[in-house]
Amino acid sequence: MDNERIEELKKIRDEIWKLTDSPLYEYRIQNNYYPVIGEGNHFAKIIFIGEAPGENEAKTARPFCGAAGRILDQLLESADIKREDVYITNIIKDRPPGNRDPNPDEIELYSPFLVRQIDIIKPKVVATLGRFSMDFIMRLFDLEDKIEPISKIHGKIFDAKASYGEIKIIPLYHPAVVVYNSNQLSILIKDFNLLKQFYKNKKTEK
Ligand code: URA
Repeated sequence: MDNERIEELKKIRDEIWKLTDSPLYEYRIQNNYYPVIGEGNHFAKIIFIGEAPGENEAKTARPFCGAAGRILDQLLESADIKREDVYITNIIKDRPPGNRDPNPDEIELYSPFLVRQIDIIKPKVVATLGRFSMDFIMRLFDLEDKIEPISKIHGKIFDAKASYGEIKIIPLYHPAVVVYNSNQLSILIKDFNLLKQFYKNKKTEK
């Protein structure tokens, strides 16, 4: 079963590598960037979904390894969650030029890969980082009518149904907010604390 997941995830990686139709493909090649597929435990109970790779990520092919990643690491540590026990990915798998917001057509192109990743990994908790992934995930799981500004619904736990069973959706602020406003750190720490209940004693369950 483990091998099956690895194979399916590799298929996604290979397809993204060859995504020549993407409006971000040329930029990837010109800059010697990599696509950033995702990283972590293939049996993770918690999946974190960010927006798109930044420069550090595109240079290393690893999600959240720059300034926002350092904040994310700090937040995971504050909740006693090991990074290697969770899965971390983004909606958009290639770096948008100058870290601009993703376009709707880019979200449309890349999001099916994310949907497949979720179906393969089957997390019990989908934690969104920032408003783009919050919006996308809440619509995906029929929570469109519950969407409000992230300032209102961060840290709330929504029940949803995935193809493989009941899940929780938890919108969180994007860790990068702390880079611009350090006051947000305590809010994020409090929200990350909520994740503990879904992590403890469940790490090894398959
Ligand atoms: N910001 C994101 O949304 N994702 C990353 O991988 C890095 C920064």
